[in-house]
Amino acid sequence: MTQDHSAFSYEAMLGEYPDTMVSFGAGSITELYCYVLQNRINSAMLFAGGTSSANRSMGAVQSLFVDNPEFDLRLYAGIPPEPTVEDVRKMRAALEQSKPEIVIAVGGGSVMDAAKAAYLSMQTESDVNELFGVNTASTRFPEKEFKRIICIPTTSGTGSEVTPYSNIVDPESGVKKLIMEKQIIPSHAFVDPVLTHSMPQDLTVTTALDAFVHCIESVLNYRAENAHPDSVEWGLEGIRLIAQALPVVLKEPGNYIARTKLSAAAVLGGMCIRNRPTSLPHLCSFSFYGKVPHGVAVAALLPPFWQYYLESPEVRDITMKMSGIFSKEPEQTAEEIVKNCADFIAACKGPAKLSDLGCDRSIIAKVAGDAVQNPMKLQSCPRPVEPANAAEIITVILEKAW
Ligand SMILES: [Fe+2]
Repeated sequence: MTQDHSAFSYEAMLGEYPDTMVSFGAGSITELYCYVLQNRINSAMLFAGGTSSANRSMGAVQSLFVDNPEFDLRLYAGIPPEPTVEDVRKMRAALEQSKPEIVIAVGGGSVMDAAKAAYLSMQTESDVNELFGVNTASTRFPEKEFKRIICIPTTSGTGSEVTPYSNIVDPESGVKKLIMEKQIIPSHAFVDPVLTHSMPQDLTVTTALDAFVHCIESVLNYRAENAHPDSVEWGLEGIRLIAQALPVVLKEPGNYIARTKLSAAAVLGGMCIRNRPTSLPHLCSFSFYGKVPHGVAVAALLPPFWQYYLESPEVRDITMKMSGIFSKEPEQTAEEIVKNCADFIAACKGPAKLSDLGCDRSIIAKVAGDAVQNPMKLQSCPRPVEPANAAEIITVILEKAW
């Protein structure tokens, strides 16, 4: 596998991110307490999930405040995976009741996404349904600066701790809806890889694959505008870290160095997609919601769409930057890199082909039909797809990859 190209250079990269103050490493959550003291904060709402590991993580945060009985720490646990608009409404009600000075989300992407939506909903006095879309709140309130949440991630995947995205399920339509809003980018992320040690293997794989695909899709997205000049390097580093660390963690779940690399890669992936967004693999993954874990779906969809993008000379050039990451022998062609990447995904207990997702082949028609609903994404991807031809093109790509 790949050489340790730039040991620990990710720490410098995490410090470059202009949108979120990232504190990274073992014990970094203690810096939350310093932040609270320095800013004379007296109250907080702590949002968390409902699992035993969520309880442990919440306990770790609570323990920071045991010597400060004056501090008003409210706990709201039990946020489910795939939170719905109704979950967000309940969280908003809790915030309105306690009016905390800061909001802290401890958990995976679901908890962080729901906390972002609830805090924005409270501050805009808007139902969450009115916030879906691109910069809806900041367009409606152009003069207003909203307070942003603080995140303590306990998985290494979504990168939600640094992104402007919040995915919430609307049970009425049965689809996941997206808030994309610069004003929900968390202000601080305290990323302690120790909190990820108890992740079971399937969650480790699905979250790592999600981060992996974030980094690759972002690197490939050379058409993104106004991206941070270092965002390609962030993505390449994230890919290297996962290529090194995921096979190690699968053999030794408690390997601290490898877990640390996965945590760093997840943050880098979030930093990347804030600057150079994801494209067709992520767009098409939403049709698998409720059937296949997100990270597994995007990992199956990446190789076929990457192959499709290779018609673009710019994508070929940028693909060659990954030469030597997935193989000891640096690859000589872009096609070899895509193939070795697909083999890496399969070797890490990910899907080898689309049929491994366990869905009926008829889902291809649904994927193609759903994708057509998002012409903006189709036209902004590395090899643009005309909306009129999109259903046919996507069908051919997925049929070939089945
Ligand atoms: Fe993702």
